[in-house]
Amino acid sequence: MGKQGVLMINENVLKLLESESLLFNSPIHGVKHWQTVERNAHYLANFNKADIEVLSYFAYFHDCMRENEHRDKGHGPRAASFAKQHRDLIPLNDIQFKQLTNACKGHTYGERPECITINTCWDADRLDLLRVGIMPDANRLHNKEAKRIANEADFLALDDFYKPSLLKRIKGSLK
Ligand SMILES: [Fe+2]
Repeated sequence: MGKQGVLMINENVLKLLESESLLFNSPIHGVKHWQTVERNAHYLANFNKADIEVLSYFAYFHDCMRENEHRDKGHGPRAASFAKQHRDLIPLNDIQFKQLTNACKGHTYGERPECITINTCWDADRLDLLRVGIMPDANRLHNKEAKRIANEADFLALDDFYKPSLLKRIKGSLK
């Protein structure tokens, strides 16, 4: 089980994102969404063998280089190169780091890979589509439990796990 309510990413990474991410405070693609993606991912990790550290870094990085809230085609690959530029700050081993960058790169247009961790990253992101009024489509999800949530519109299962909006602000870093 993910450590609910505990910041899973390195605090220096969070500070980096806070200063470099244009949309950090956006409710659509900013830290609020990242926390929800992390929560969704950790929930799904209770049903599979995904790597929860990679899930957390994906949650915080995948949209961090967006330049707008719309169709920003290059934002996934940009997030991957941003992570590479700051490799030294990210406490993942090389296998985990490769999963992180591949997950970021492909999260909007990529083909589903074999890797359960990457698939869980993408499902966790898609399960937060309701925030923009889109019902997640079970056919575009990989995990059985993610499909179940979409089919039954059981988003309460996620909120019952924990509510990211109620997470304690970490040393005032998150506004
Ligand atoms: Fe996202």
